[in-house]
Amino acid sequence: MMANTARLRPLAWWWKKWTKRDWAIAAVAVTAFLFLLSSLSDDPRRDRGPGARLPAADLVDLTLLRDADAKGALCLDGSAPGYHFSKGFGSGFDSWLIHIEGGGWCDSLSSCLSRAKTKLGSSAYMEQQVSFSGILSSEPSQNPEFFNWNKVKIRYCDGASFSGHPQSEPKDKKGRIFFRGQLIWKALMDELLSAGLSTARQAFLTGCSAGGLATLIHCDDFRKLLPKDATVKCLADAGFFLNEKDVSGKDTMRSFYHNVVQLQGVQESLNKDCVASKEPSDCFFPKEIIKTIRTPVFLVNPAYDFWQIQNVLVPEGSDPSESWKKCRLNIRACTSSQLKMLQGFRDSLLRALSEFQKSKEGGMFINSCFIHCQTWIGETWHYPNSPRINNKTIAESVGDWYFNRRAVKQIDCPYPCNPSCYNMDFS
Ligand SMILES: *[C@@H]1O[C@H](CO)[C@@H](O)[C@H](O)[C@H]1NC(C)=O
Repeated sequence: MMANTARLRPLAWWWKKWTKRDWAIAAVAVTAFLFLLSSLSDDPRRDRGPGARLPAADLVDLTLLRDADAKGALCLDGSAPGYHFSKGFGSGFDSWLIHIEGGGWCDSLSSCLSRAKTKLGSSAYMEQQVSFSGILSSEPSQNPEFFNWNKVKIRYCDGASFSGHPQSEPKDKKGRIFFRGQLIWKALMDELLSAGLSTARQAFLTGCSAGGLATLIHCDDFRKLLPKDATVKCLADAGFFLNEKDVSGKDTMRSFYHNVVQLQGVQESLNKDCVASKEPSDCFFPKEIIKTIRTPVFLVNPAYDFWQIQNVLVPEGSDPSESWKKCRLNIRACTSSQLKMLQGFRDSLLRALSEFQKSKEGGMFINSCFIHCQTWIGETWHYPNSPRINNKTIAESVGDWYFNRRAVKQIDCPYPCNPSCYNMDFS
């Protein structure tokens, strides 16, 4: 159990690092933007409606869910869940983009209890403001398709991709813990529906990592909440977790998911037919989930997702000789035999996607970068130097697909062929 907690630590560390980094990027962007505003006598944004003038830095306040106690919708520690809401303006007033935050999972009582003392398990530790960038940015040059939509970032605080159930809460342990993921999802949707989502003309449910998985799990529910004539689609970013053996031949990810599903009673939120015919935790893997989703889905996933390399392919403990020590932190440090294994991992991803690739409505952007989430980070979403496939950024590819401009099934050539990649280096 401790090993699993330890395995999740690199993600938490990365998360903090990105957040700081993103703040820095946002600060630079805002300074540049304010400079631009001051130098233009006729700001072209002004005709986009009264909301067009942004608050400094696109910082968005945390809102706590109303009546969380009465609804039983609680974070792991019993606090109210939260989200950040930025109101749509101009032509985006009746369009909604929801983004579900990620942050791994807890797979044991002890790891959930530790998580309950962090912002991934309690709103008491969440930032009061976050900056909206990438797919959440209100800046048209950074987010050309969705900048003026109503935008919501849902904070992740249940530890099981919004799919836990209270029947599985331990009754007789000392520290109380709450498994309310599914109730949080429902209560948040109710609150957003009454804030205008119920009359949306266009809606887009998105999420990254564990939030990408939550997006896939709840995509069809989301569809049902919205008007029949609304355009409703979903996007999972870095949420396509593979049921693959690690380098030592163990089913680390499979047993990890098994523990998460068992601990929080997640099978209740999974597809009934799948759960009836398979081991329930298999139905928590996107490969199974996408077989049953009826709403159009877009998958953004790097073929060398560093979270998966560090936790699925080469988790801590799978490499006692430490021969992967450098490669798992920096793809440029991989030996040719290690790269061969990474290409095998990419092949597994492409195999798992082969049916989906044939679907008419689905879209995909599978780039060959050593990165994790790419939609909510400005640098990877739509900067001039953002990753591209066929000269299209992720933002352009997603926009082309969402607005039916063309079919988008982008699969990059294998590493290291794409010079536009943003490859992380943790060493
Ligand atoms: C790639 O796209 C950019 C604009 O997004 C354009 O300026 C450039 O000419 C394109 N390059 C090629 C090779 O098509």
